[in-house]
Amino acid sequence: MVFLAVLGSAAVEVASALATEIETKVVVDTTNPLDFSSGSPALFVGHTDSLGERVQRALPTARVVKAYNTVGNALMVDPQLPGGPPTMLIAGDSEDAKTAVGDLLEATGWDVADLGGIEASRYLEPLCLAWVSLASRTANWNQAFKLLRG
Ligand SMILES: NC(=O)c1ccc[n+]([C@@H]2O[C@H](COP(=O)([O-])OP(=O)(O)OC[C@H]3O[C@@H](n4cnc5c(N)ncnc54)[C@H](OP(=O)(O)O)[C@@H]3O)[C@@H](O)[C@H]2O)c1
Repeated sequence: MVFLAVLGSAAVEVASALATEIETKVVVDTTNPLDFSSGSPALFVGHTDSLGERVQRALPTARVVKAYNTVGNALMVDPQLPGGPPTMLIAGDSEDAKTAVGDLLEATGWDVADLGGIEASRYLEPLCLAWVSLASRTANWNQAFKLLRG
């Protein structure tokens, strides 16, 4: 399992350069396509594409799973929050890869919700902006989303 955790604008270039080494490995794509050129962050992929999909296209034989991009790094492993385990939203085309990443997440303190194929990165990447906006407004970076199911 390979974790891709570089600057969003470098993610495709880095993934492409490592394609031969990565082959069919599971790639956990934590990156966000953030563009700070106008001051407040925006997405440089628009809304009809995503960085998760671009990484998958750069690594056609790899099994890319978008995960960890909607929470701050301090909470990525064993998040301790009063409301119990937060929910990590993930997306990817390989069910086996999502099972492996889901197992890792659950072993490290997370509830997991699978949004579907890698194109669901189009929903996960804007959610990063929601998380950053909320953290900034509340001056609290120690928070994560939780899904309540009926
Ligand atoms: N930090 C968080 O809490 C958090 C949470 C969720 C998701 N993410 C995502 O995770 C990724 C990394 O975030 P970060 O906070 O660790 O960012 P960061 O501190 O800015 O680190 C960026 C990393 O990318 C590398 N990099 C930049 N350009 C590169 C290039 N052209 N080729 C190879 N490596 C390059 C840098 O390497 P050098 O140091 O050698 O320049 C550095 O290791 C981002 O996509 C971010 O959106 C971060």
